[in-house]
Amino acid sequence: MQEAVLRTIEEDYVAGRAGSQRLYAEATAVFPSGVTHDSRYFRPFPIYIAHAAGARKWDVDGNEYIDYRLGHGALMLGHGHPAIVRAVQEQVALGTHYGASHELEVRWGQLVQRLVPCADVVKFTSSGTEATMMALRLARAATGRAKVAKFAGHFHGWHDHLNRGITTPYELPSSVGVPDALQALLVVLPPNDVAALRAALAAREIAAVILEPSGGRGGVVPTAPGFLEALRQATRETGTVLIFDEVVTGFRLSPGGAQALYGVTPDLATFAKALVGGLPGGAVAGRRALFAPLAFGADAERNRRSRVAHPGTFNANPLSAAAGVAALTAYLDGSVHRHTDRLSELLREALQERLRRRGVAGVVWGGNAILHIGLGLDADRAAVESGQIPGDVLEHSVGGPRAAHLRRACYVHGVDLPAPNTMLSVAHAEADVEVTARAFDAAVARCQGEGVL
Ligand SMILES: Cc1ncc(COP(=O)(O)O)c(C=O)c1O
Repeated sequence: MQEAVLRTIEEDYVAGRAGSQRLYAEATAVFPSGVTHDSRYFRPFPIYIAHAAGARKWDVDGNEYIDYRLGHGALMLGHGHPAIVRAVQEQVALGTHYGASHELEVRWGQLVQRLVPCADVVKFTSSGTEATMMALRLARAATGRAKVAKFAGHFHGWHDHLNRGITTPYELPSSVGVPDALQALLVVLPPNDVAALRAALAAREIAAVILEPSGGRGGVVPTAPGFLEALRQATRETGTVLIFDEVVTGFRLSPGGAQALYGVTPDLATFAKALVGGLPGGAVAGRRALFAPLAFGADAERNRRSRVAHPGTFNANPLSAAAGVAALTAYLDGSVHRHTDRLSELLREALQERLRRRGVAGVVWGGNAILHIGLGLDADRAAVESGQIPGDVLEHSVGGPRAAHLRRACYVHGVDLPAPNTMLSVAHAEADVEVTARAFDAAVARCQGEGVL
């Protein structure tokens, strides 16, 4: 009798994806390592998606995936939500760029004001990176201070000003090519450490403290209870601008973002992703006084010498504004978030239970439409969420070759379950959670079979 030949996870991944493999071979001749975003780099090659709908997407080989990546977190409403499709289709026929002001940008800004507690004033940018860049510029203009502070493990986009302390080792810049002179202006603080924060702010040399309010990398390293309040107090006492980077948490953790959920109001907040319903764009919102340097006055000399400049070809472009208005309107009554909150908890419990039953050490934490899967972690969720586990331990548990292997196995079983953030949308249903849990279970079992877990 012939013995059954069992394929490895990687062999299965490759066998079902000849089209993606071919495209990747072409892509490597066009782009460095074949990809257009660092996080899309994947061994042996990434999947190439042909179309998507609701909570699902299909690759060029016809494989179907339940999608928890959701446009890097942009798709709070899932793929092809009817309100977004309608808004964009109507707008594309009316014009994609007027090189002029238009009504939809006003409506979009008004919705931000209505939803976000700190948003006295709003300015649109073309991405989250641009939003954090502008927030720093406003803070520096307001305070006349050059230094800025961030926290180890927090990510704020890819510009040069916040280019350190993102992944371990935190003392290394995340990229070469950034002048040392700029690194000298950046202070990286340990998260959740009030004493270190107070010591850093005491000299009143720091223009702004920026952080991801739910914790580094979308909440992988959670902010400890009470820390945001202490941070608010310390920044107020020292005349330091407090910036919440809500590019991930904004309109995702609640209709008003993390600041509405936690009841702590920053001076400035940055947004992108769920702000725009799947199209490109970003925004800075905040206290009116901080935006005053952006305003034009009657005095041309003052405009030339004392303004914060803000050009940007695609700021509030009509297509993004149309999608943004549709998305924010959908968030208004809270029903989207009630659904995603409930589902994310169901998914967290289901995945945790599968790890437990398989005897795999690991913790699933987070909530409010984002969760994280830490492999090899021997802790409980409460300890992780209250900030008791060191950030580097948490980071290692969500990343690395073991997590990548599990992800590959999940692809083979029909789920795109990305690290560090697994995201939910209103298009996901309870049945998807069940299918995901079964796929996850099969993927874990195969990783165990290969000695990876
Ligand atoms: C917290 C945070 N801030 C800023 C950014 C940068 O946003 P963008 O990719 O739109 O430039 C990201 C991107 O993932 C982010 O997660």
